[in-house]
Amino acid sequence: MHKLLVKTTLKNYNVYVGDNSLEEFRKNLSANHSKVLFLIDKNVFKKCLKIINKILPASKDYHHIIIECSEKNKSIKTVEKVCKYLSNNKFDRKSVLVSIGGGVLGDVTGFCASIYMRGIKCYQIPTTILSAVDGSVGGKTGINFNGIKNLIGTFYQPDGVFVETEFFKTLPRREVISGIGELVKYALIIPKLYNFFLEEIKKIYLNREVSIEVIITSLKIKSEIVNKDEKEETGLRKILNLGHTFAHGFESASDYKLTHGKAVFYGIICALLISERLGLIDNKIITQFLNDFGFINREKFVNQLDTQKIINFMKSDKKNFNGTINLVLVSKSGILTDIPIKEKAVFTTIEKFKKMFG
Ligand code: GLY
Repeated sequence: MHKLLVKTTLKNYNVYVGDNSLEEFRKNLSANHSKVLFLIDKNVFKKCLKIINKILPASKDYHHIIIECSEKNKSIKTVEKVCKYLSNNKFDRKSVLVSIGGGVLGDVTGFCASIYMRGIKCYQIPTTILSAVDGSVGGKTGINFNGIKNLIGTFYQPDGVFVETEFFKTLPRREVISGIGELVKYALIIPKLYNFFLEEIKKIYLNREVSIEVIITSLKIKSEIVNKDEKEETGLRKILNLGHTFAHGFESASDYKLTHGKAVFYGIICALLISERLGLIDNKIITQFLNDFGFINREKFVNQLDTQKIINFMKSDKKNFNGTINLVLVSKSGILTDIPIKEKAVFTTIEKFKKMFG
């Protein structure tokens, strides 16, 4: 088992990866708490009951709610349901919330924990590759509101993260591929690890083998960034948003038919195309990237999405200011953040991207 320390202003916490990480969860939970509410993804509950049954009795007074996880349910209604449950069942300030699921559930759980009684403890047990390598760590919580992804949320760090790779074995293929998007991002953020991530992504893609090494490496990169810029104040953490503004546009315009990770992958391609357009990188970088990652399958329906609709969603992304789309781009000397881009350039880029897929 591997242990990683995440340091933030208000608290430090450990991320455990691999065998025995759930044992560590039990130990953590035996500390000072009253009731525990597990929020469990419906699919995980169905497919991984054996593991779940080992986790739940870690506390004497435990409850659980099964949640159907989708972007549609990442809503104020779900938050209300959870908070009502906590209140009706007299959960107090020493209560704990635990997420057993993917990124959607992790975000909702973190958000509920951050607002109930002004904050109770929260643990994350990610069950998807995507949430294990990104969302479960770093304290971003949120729900979709008014048709806008993650519009309402808080920075609220968990008290521990426990990654058990057994969960990944039951993931549907579309979820496995979704995990790849965030890994591709790390490949570009840390160029010296490009080949490492490329090989690991191929392994995951071809035979679903997710090494502990790729999870640890991703989380090390993420936790170092979070340690330095927890709330995206200095700009450093913003590099983790590479491809994400485009991704939110694609995801929302497809009514979430497109998975988050796949949308991030497409978003990264668009960010590379704009970077080239601005002369920040040479064309050969894009050719190389598409050669290397071209094995990732293409969703033909993306071509049918209305470009202006994608842009309209991009315009409501919270990373923008002064009404301009702000992007994270790639340059020869590293990742650049907060680059204002004219709508016309974004339009042309998405059209070009679609043609590449045509
Ligand atoms: N997923 C990007 C971040 O946590 O900052």
